[in-house]
Amino acid sequence: MTTHPNTVGSTIVAAQYKRFGSAEVLSVIDGPAPSAGPGELVIKVAAISVNRIDTSARAGQSKFMTGRHLPQPTGLDFSGEVTEVGQQVAGFSPGQRVWGFLGTDQLGKHGTAATQIAVSADLAAPAPASHELTDLAALPLVSVTAWQALEELKVREGSRLLVVGGAGGVGSAAVQVARARGAIVDTISSAPHEALLQQLGAESRFDPDPAQWSGLTGHYDAVLDTTGQSLWALRRTLARTGRMVTTSPAGIAASVISKILPGPSIVFLSVKPSRTALDQVAALVDAGLLNPVIRARFPLGEIAQAHALVETGHGEGKVLVDIS
Ligand SMILES: NC(=O)c1ccc[n+]([C@@H]2O[C@H](COP(=O)([O-])OP(=O)(O)OC[C@H]3O[C@@H](n4cnc5c(N)ncnc54)[C@H](OP(=O)(O)O)[C@@H]3O)[C@@H](O)[C@H]2O)c1
Repeated sequence: MTTHPNTVGSTIVAAQYKRFGSAEVLSVIDGPAPSAGPGELVIKVAAISVNRIDTSARAGQSKFMTGRHLPQPTGLDFSGEVTEVGQQVAGFSPGQRVWGFLGTDQLGKHGTAATQIAVSADLAAPAPASHELTDLAALPLVSVTAWQALEELKVREGSRLLVVGGAGGVGSAAVQVARARGAIVDTISSAPHEALLQQLGAESRFDPDPAQWSGLTGHYDAVLDTTGQSLWALRRTLARTGRMVTTSPAGIAASVISKILPGPSIVFLSVKPSRTALDQVAALVDAGLLNPVIRARFPLGEIAQAHALVETGHGEGKVLVDIS
């Protein structure tokens, strides 16, 4: 085991909730510093982002995943610096910049909203060199979600792709990754996000009202939905050989029904931690093709405000919690 000086025996600060409920149930507590077990890294966290799944877990809407025990930690994304390398870990060293995210199987059990965390080395990857760690926390979970969705959709050079909710966390990453693959990307998004979407490389923007895009029947090779809304109308925008993915839990029922209907299935995609995907998106970041889109930042002591902002379901890009 390799350890950075000044970390052994110290304490950490971490966010948790002692009951399920609105964002105010979050509090910040002191605790013992973690140590690296076999196969693990200890990471000094620079920043995390808040994802919708973090807020639904805290609200008690995901007990089938989190369990009912309390208190529960919070946070899946992380960026930071390795302070300790456990036995049987290769390829990491103290001081190294890393990023990653915990799988949803960790919800309610482990959280990244803490000054130091111990994580399986399989969940971490070298962070891109081109950005501050405090900005990079905007990307791991949503960009790997976008990457895996675009793989499922087989988006390639020249593909015609429609991203629904293009300005959100997943959407803004998906637009950029798809553009990097040479796809032609349109979006469904509200008017205030027009400037951002143009900057990200999207071509046309359509308003969320289905009447605004009813003329697009059969137009797209792929639809990536992040909202769970108007899925059957969206499906009609696909060419006969087209594919459709939704990341929204609100789309799960339609995805099940679509399997027994003729025509393209609506696939609900659940992101999986992947070193390969993290490395692929890191390469895009360092090539200047994928940039963090940051809506707001809060210090760890104001994580409740960060959760409340994410819970509105509106806005551009990611809400970060600075921890460093
Ligand atoms: N399955 C997975 O593995 C996975 C992974 C990550 C996220 N997710 C889920 O994916 C969904 C999106 O996550 P996110 O992080 O991107 O959320 P987010 O950052 O909160 O973004 C939501 C975006 O959707 C837009 N929007 C809402 N309703 C819309 C509509 N009817 N038409 C067009 N745009 C609409 C909002 O725009 P306005 O500002 O105009 O309202 C906002 O920009 C959430 O349900 C989340 O839980 C799932």
